[in-house]
Amino acid sequence: MQAEITAYNRKFNNASAEEVLEYFIANYSGRIGFSSSFGAEDQVLTDLILKQNAQVNIFTLDTGRLPYETYEVMDKTNKKYGITIDVYTPERSDLEALYKSQGVNGFYESIEKRKACCHVRKIAPLQRALQGLDVWITGLRQSQSVTRGNLELVEFDQQLQLIKLNPLVLWSEEEVWNYIQQHHLPYNALHDKGYPSIGCAPCTRAIAVGEDVRAGRWWWEEPEHKECGLHIKSA
Ligand code: ADX
Ligand code: SF4
Repeated sequence: MQAEITAYNRKFNNASAEEVLEYFIANYSGRIGFSSSFGAEDQVLTDLILKQNAQVNIFTLDTGRLPYETYEVMDKTNKKYGITIDVYTPERSDLEALYKSQGVNGFYESIEKRKACCHVRKIAPLQRALQGLDVWITGLRQSQSVTRGNLELVEFDQQLQLIKLNPLVLWSEEEVWNYIQQHHLPYNALHDKGYPSIGCAPCTRAIAVGEDVRAGRWWWEEPEHKECGLHIKSA
């Protein structure tokens, strides 16, 4: 598989996000999915994907702790494109067990507790959402954080055993926003209030000018820990 991944990265070395999506959507028809958190990058990808007029499962993970503004942009996006993006939620029994073992806000107390919460609310629903798919499209970019600097366009996710496709891997933040403005895309209102990166409400805060774009995510942890487990480098 690694040889195939390397070949893909060579083949698409200078390709645009549109070209990459066109190829993968055609070649993995019915076996390709896109996870959207309705962040700026994901809004660009939704637009690019829907322009292809092809079958891609677009889904989101509703952790149950998302900010109100994320539900607003979810609704606006569905209405704009006349679609209903699939919503995956945590299992009720997992959630109840989590509350029992660490309370409602236990994630502030340790990395282990934070990861346990992310597991129940994001990882397990993601695993369900990706079942039966061969390719997972994400909005990850290299310049988002220290943990993402080595990210490649195409990767193999060992844990999930599927191809992970990051069509915007080399895009700058400016390119993302230019696209959103040029195409009049709906975006999360929190982006205008100092939140470049948005996750769950209790684990996301605004950043100061000059801070890293992910500085407001799990701000009480060290930068190298700031991944919830959705995106552990395993290729
Ligand atoms: S996270 O791992 O820290 O939460 P981030 O917010 O940077 O990730 O988003 C990176 C990519 O992960 C998004 O472009 C999207 O593909 C996926 N993602 C993150 N959170 C969600 C979510 N709640 N629902 C669906 N996809 C998500
Ligand atoms: Fe839980 Fe925070 Fe992770 Fe959301 S980001 S799943 S609230 S620990």
